[in-house]
Amino acid sequence: MEKEMILSPSILSADFGILAEQVKRAENAGAQWLHIDVMDGHFVPNMTFAMPVIKSLRKYTDMFFDVHLMIDKPERYIDEFINAGADGVTFHIEATDKPKECIEMIQNRGKKAAISINPKTPVSAIEKYFDKVDMVLVMSVEPGYGGQKYIESVNEKIAYIREKMGSDFDIEVDGGINANNIDNAINAGANIIVAGTAVFNDDIEGSVRSLMR
Ligand code: DX5
Ligand code: ZN
Repeated sequence: MEKEMILSPSILSADFGILAEQVKRAENAGAQWLHIDVMDGHFVPNMTFAMPVIKSLRKYTDMFFDVHLMIDKPERYIDEFINAGADGVTFHIEATDKPKECIEMIQNRGKKAAISINPKTPVSAIEKYFDKVDMVLVMSVEPGYGGQKYIESVNEKIAYIREKMGSDFDIEVDGGINANNIDNAINAGANIIVAGTAVFNDDIEGSVRSLMR
């Protein structure tokens, strides 16, 4: 059974002065998830937002909150992000020496647990967690910023995970995706697509429609 494609627009590229309004526009246009990029200025060179923004946004939409933690030692904050409204929590294997505990913390709260690898990190770094997590997030850019170019070589990682885990496993890809390259990512095996700059621009509705499959 082919998994339904899910679009998870990244709010990193949205206008934070009217964030709820922009999110509602993406939701009404058909996006099913909302990708929320949390950065600590330490694991990645950029800083964004955290629990207070998620807590506020939670009141305005029922979208699945796909929280991407680009923070060091994520085990310190998983519970707080879930309290703020996260439905899925993704942490980076490069950011913790307690991946098993992170997965258990998320699943013990009934939320979707995902592990992520950066472009330079081999799949072998997370293979032993494939049967524990609910999803794998394959980064197709170096984490930290929106608007970067898709790194084509990650398609091999996506294909490997799809081959290994079968058609009913969630594989999310994140970074540099637009209407011109989304089909390569889907054909490689990704079924959940993150898009920031390709969605939050002056035509949110048209952009969402151009990416839905
Ligand atoms: C980068 C973030 C991505 C990014 C995607 O560190 O994890 O989610 O916001 O933005 P685009 O789609 O513009 O590359
Ligand atoms: Zn992200």
